[in-house]
Amino acid sequence: MYSIEKLLLENKGWAAGKTAEDPEYFERLAHLQTPEFLWIGCSDSRVPANEITGTQPGEIFVHRNIANLVIHTDVNLLSVLEFAVEHLKVKHVIVCGHYGCGGIKAATTNHDFKQVLNMWLRNIKDVYRLYKEELDAIKDDEARVDRLTELNVREQVLHLAKTSIIQRAWQHDNRPELHGWVYGLKDGIIKPVFHMNVNAEIDSLYKYDDL
Ligand code: CO
Repeated sequence: MYSIEKLLLENKGWAAGKTAEDPEYFERLAHLQTPEFLWIGCSDSRVPANEITGTQPGEIFVHRNIANLVIHTDVNLLSVLEFAVEHLKVKHVIVCGHYGCGGIKAATTNHDFKQVLNMWLRNIKDVYRLYKEELDAIKDDEARVDRLTELNVREQVLHLAKTSIIQRAWQHDNRPELHGWVYGLKDGIIKPVFHMNVNAEIDSLYKYDDL
């Protein structure tokens, strides 16, 4: 286990290594941020966006929360989304869940996790309710939670498409594409499970007609 001092020491070593490799590395990054991707992932420490996609600092704009939820009243997420879409002009938004997600598992229990977590996990219970018939038919517990993980990612991508931020960018700038992925903790492989092209069909109830 790393102590807190070890983290700072490792950081010095890492910075020195980077500079030795490429003397202009930090100078360049400090002046430029042009990521093409926004990543909305789980806070789980085993799913680091850059590492599992082989990308470098500067390439992915990242937002993470428990179970990678897109909640339409979450000012934190919406600020990140608006900045990434309107200012950084990202071409792709990825919602990446992962099999073995503690948040998803917790939401399938009837345990009281205290109000704040109950409130957060409630969003996942609502996804379960939408697909209750399909999910209840899966007898194996792990397989059922895995399927809920995929359906949760799908619903969060649909939530993105319901925002005026995404709809405005679709209409005026022909981007971004929306992707739903699930990462496997057991094999390190990302499985694409859902995708929405620019101007994909959405429920008319959620469509803005004066953007
Ligand atoms: Co998780």
